[in-house]
Amino acid sequence: MADFDGEVALVTGAAGAIGGAICRALRASGAVVALTDIDARALERTAAELGGEVEIFPADLTDDAQTEALPARVRKRFGRLDILVNNAGARQIAPMLDIEPAVWRHTLEVDLVAPFVLSRAAIPGMIEQGRGKIVNIASMAGLAAFRDRAAYSAAKAGLIMLTKVTAVECGGRGIWCNAVAPGVVETPMTSSFFESDEMTASIRANTPMGRWCRPDEIASPVVFLSSAASDFVNGTVVPVDGGWTAGYVGAELSPRPIGADNGR
Ligand SMILES: NC(=O)c1ccc[n+]([C@@H]2O[C@H](COP(=O)([O-])OP(=O)(O)OC[C@H]3O[C@@H](n4cnc5c(N)ncnc54)[C@H](O)[C@@H]3O)[C@@H](O)[C@H]2O)c1
Repeated sequence: MADFDGEVALVTGAAGAIGGAICRALRASGAVVALTDIDARALERTAAELGGEVEIFPADLTDDAQTEALPARVRKRFGRLDILVNNAGARQIAPMLDIEPAVWRHTLEVDLVAPFVLSRAAIPGMIEQGRGKIVNIASMAGLAAFRDRAAYSAAKAGLIMLTKVTAVECGGRGIWCNAVAPGVVETPMTSSFFESDEMTASIRANTPMGRWCRPDEIASPVVFLSSAASDFVNGTVVPVDGGWTAGYVGAELSPRPIGADNGR
């Protein structure tokens, strides 16, 4: 298990399901956690559950000035900033031709522009400290195209490339930047999926593991990528999708009947 020994982590979208799980896991490993989200009330609830050395910093990540100010606010409160987890996300499900430009822009603002603005504001202080770790929460929708997710997929694909560029440009100055690309995680963001038997059957059929993910299963690789245990891992994207994007389950290239020998 990682031992952060008082290192300070800033987690965006901390009031959400995956963000909350990431905060709990970092806290359990000894990190001091700064939580930020647009939903101040939910943020207070998450912070109260965590206890100990935590602080909330409500902010709207579509506001550049508020976003840019966050690393300095965290440093002012805790004296340092070692880990940044860009987890906040916005998503809509609609055919590409129905997406209004304003919705497209909003999705890109939250999912791609804000991680850039935050990274840009956090990195100089991390370089001064000697090291800093950034983990971006992307999505398998940033690795493969899915219907009805044009803005979300484009933003997450952009976030994956921002991850790589950050590592290439700043890796030599003590900055690590990696991404985690979750598959389907059971959270309020995906609650509509679980109301439909067709959707749950599709998730099972497309996932070699035959199930969906729990938020804590995203938090574990985030802890690893935030810790010294991953010090030779930089600029990568780790799919945490039960094998969904590893291949095409059911689209076999051998003659046996589909699903006859897939271990389920
Ligand atoms: N749930 C999944 O299946 C899944 C799959 C792949 C990737 N992800 C990604 O994981 C991350 C967390 O998702 P989740 O499922 O926990 O969703 P969630 O909706 O529970 O959490 C997202 C959080 O982001 C916050 N947020 C949204 N807009 C904001 C803004 N303008 N300023 C500040 N905060 C804002 C929300 O208030 C919310 O608390 C997201 O980046 C999402 O794209 C989720």
